[in-house]
Amino acid sequence: MSQSSEAEGAERLNALISCARTLFPKPIATCVVPCHPSTSVDAEYALEAEAVEGACESRRLQYLAGRRAAREAFRQLDGPCGPLLQDASGAVGWPDGWTGSITHTKDWCVAATAHTTDCLRLGIDLEETQRMNEPIARRVLLPTELDFASTSSETFLPLAALFFSAKEALYKAVTPLVKQRLGFHDVRLMVEKTSDGLHLRAELLPSDVEGRRVVSRLVGRGGFCGPFCLAAFHLPGSRPSQQ
Ligand SMILES: CC(C)(COP(=O)(O)OP(=O)(O)OC[C@H]1O[C@@H](n2cnc3c(N)ncnc32)[C@H](O)[C@@H]1OP(=O)(O)O)[C@@H](O)C(=O)NCCC(=O)NCCS
Repeated sequence: MSQSSEAEGAERLNALISCARTLFPKPIATCVVPCHPSTSVDAEYALEAEAVEGACESRRLQYLAGRRAAREAFRQLDGPCGPLLQDASGAVGWPDGWTGSITHTKDWCVAATAHTTDCLRLGIDLEETQRMNEPIARRVLLPTELDFASTSSETFLPLAALFFSAKEALYKAVTPLVKQRLGFHDVRLMVEKTSDGLHLRAELLPSDVEGRRVVSRLVGRGGFCGPFCLAAFHLPGSRPSQQ
């Protein structure tokens, strides 16, 4: 890697770290790592490597980077450090008393973790904004969300990407607490721009009363970082959080 691309990588990493930190209150830890081609696997985590043995190289790197990021986030909380395997739904089977979420693009991976006293469930999502286009936006966003994103043609696609990302983050946070399979039009998102960033609120549209209660308690944040947007939701636990 040339010196300039190394410097660019370090700059991007720092920007993503700063952005990820704004998404949650203090007791929730975040970590960003590159999906590095030279990721070697510690013998202790051989089960993780086995889980993606037959997968293509990019998937293998993303999967392993996600585990490294989650363990580093756990380390910040003096949390567990064992292997993190998938459950039947594809989500990570988090150790008892702990929760978390993983997201990746081709090159970057972000994980967030928390003790369940601080946060019952959480979901995080990272997207490359340039992957959004008008047909996808019209398929995924509800009319009120399209109206919000359409306030400026310059920011339409990045905002549409943020709505998409927020729906993915919400899905990760509430599955399987919300029993029904959630489609993109089952949740309406509201975005509020304030001096400290973008705040997200969500409303479950179908009349599953318990599901609506869970979704209305979610706390969401979003942000932009160069070519990426990040979104996250968490369900607060019993211990009051610090900002
Ligand atoms: C599961 C899903 C949300 C993953 O999002 P993505 O943008 O494709 O991929 P990301 O890189 O952001 O996230 C992948 C990680 O999500 C986690 N994940 C997968 N399934 C999950 C689930 N059911 N619940 C929580 N987390 C899950 C995994 O940790 C996975 O990484 P890993 O396989 O390396 O461990 C997405 O593929 C999906 O099925 N979306 C459709 C459902 C939806 O979003 N509906 C909108 C509701 S409003």
